Amino acid sequence: MVKICCIGAGYVGGPTMAVIALKCPSIAVAVVDISVSRIAAWNSDQLPIYEPGLDEVVKRRRGKNLFFSTDVEKHVAEADIVFVSVNTPTKTQGLGAGKAADLTYWESAARMIADVSKSNKIVVEKSTVPVKTAEAIEKILSHNSKGIKFQILSNPEFLAEGTAIQDLFKPDRVLIGGRETPDGQKAIQVLKDVYAHWVPEDRILTTNLWSAELSKLAANAFLAQRISSVNAMSALCEATGADVSQVSHAVGTDTRIGPKFLNASVGFGGSCFQKDILNLIYICDCNGLAEVANYWKQVIKVNDYQKNRFVNRVVSSMFNTVSGKKIAILGFAFKKDTGDTRETPAIDVCKGLLGDKARLSIYDPQVTEDQIQRDLTMKKFDWDHPIHLQPMSPSAVKQVSVVWDAYEAAKDSHGICILTEWDEFRKLDYQRIFECMQKPAFVFDGRNIADVEKLREIGFIVYSIGKPL
Ligand code: NAD
Ligand code: UGA
Repeated sequence: MVKICCIGAGYVGGPTMAVIALKCPSIAVAVVDISVSRIAAWNSDQLPIYEPGLDEVVKRRRGKNLFFSTDVEKHVAEADIVFVSVNTPTKTQGLGAGKAADLTYWESAARMIADVSKSNKIVVEKSTVPVKTAEAIEKILSHNSKGIKFQILSNPEFLAEGTAIQDLFKPDRVLIGGRETPDGQKAIQVLKDVYAHWVPEDRILTTNLWSAELSKLAANAFLAQRISSVNAMSALCEATGADVSQVSHAVGTDTRIGPKFLNASVGFGGSCFQKDILNLIYICDCNGLAEVANYWKQVIKVNDYQKNRFVNRVVSSMFNTVSGKKIAILGFAFKKDTGDTRETPAIDVCKGLLGDKARLSIYDPQVTEDQIQRDLTMKKFDWDHPIHLQPMSPSAVKQVSVVWDAYEAAKDSHGICILTEWDEFRKLDYQRIFECMQKPAFVFDGRNIADVEKLREIGFIVYSIGKPL
């Protein structure tokens, strides 16, 4: 029986390995992590992440050929293939702070693999890493290996949260990069055979190591760039009377452009787009490519601009002050169908409104009060460095309340900000909400899900991204 071990039981390691276990009953899969609470949650009925369809997959294979454990060294030592899916956050200190990827977790995993291995292994980069990381990892492994052979592969993950299981079941492609040597090609074939259990052969792409590493950064940069492009257009739409949904539709029907990923929003969030583009910018700078770096910087600048623009719109519409006014925040997760709040635009919007002394009442169906309070008091980039977490500031806590119902959040408020596109926000009884709000009652729709005409009929003053005012 082939044995797989995955280091890192996070948003990628957990779902990816659960699907491998489901699709390959002949392979034993162990997912290991240094976080005792995370592993305990993976072994319980309350999984540590919310992802549609994940519970069922885990329940079907857990205890059969899928295991979650904190015994990292044992499972690594026994494995034929070791996936490394640890976090690769943006550095907060030292050389490259604020841009470069922090590979501390990756390096410590690599050193541990070298220490505990007693047989040859394939080590797979699943985490998103800077191009050329495999070279560094190879050095660490081969200089500590006591004669054991390691083959490094790059197999970046393209799943999106909220649709992870679907994406893993039917990936657009699986990308495997390896050395162009006979041993490298053999290793590629071993990993190909794993995916071939359910992914059609023509969807498994093989490249050299550096192309695979860079393709992951490039794909995220291209995706984020589409959003910044449509968000930049949304500002122009508001200034000219064009409607961004109509513009997106008209542009996206060109088959060369395509209709997906053209929804204007309050800004993109999530743990990866900004981190990976900053990483790309840093690599360009290090290679003396200032113009290329500046090109990608603009994607992040437009995203920051979009979040600021939203806050400014709220404050300026409400007679230039929100001081002491209650504002309902509907949605805190960075997108629907996830409880993940990493780099969610809601953090910047809430911080902006708190800076203008608003009182916030926040509701999200999947995010806990504790998480929201922590996010609103944490420094930029610290979320992925658990050691640096700051205690909460008491004043911020007082200005924020977290409730478990959209109607409760909206009660007595002056305005509503829709920051996540949860389906339930489309179906709310907005007449009922209007009646219990202060007047004039405002809706600021950061996700373009509200029926603007209907809301205006009810009596709301409505601002929707990129729509005529
Ligand atoms: P995560 O923070 O959810 O999970 C990482 C896990 O690794 C944590 O549970 C942490 O405790 C564990 N870990 C860290 N160092 C360890 C060590 N030395 N030994 C054992 N466990 C260790 O991160 P994630 O969202 O799963 O992302 C992982 C990687 O995948 C990142 O590089 C990210 O860029 C990339 N990625 C993420 C997504 C996504 O949707 N979240 C998608 C594609 C790629
Ligand atoms: C993204 C990529 O889509 C994945 O392919 C990639 O594997 C992953 O990053 C990663 O490397 O971590 P994810 O961040 O989970 O996945 O979610 P997306 O669906 O890409 O959404 C990212 C952000 O963009 C969200 O805040 C979303 O609301 C926003 N978005 C998305 C828009 O504002 N408009 C759109 O049209 C699409």
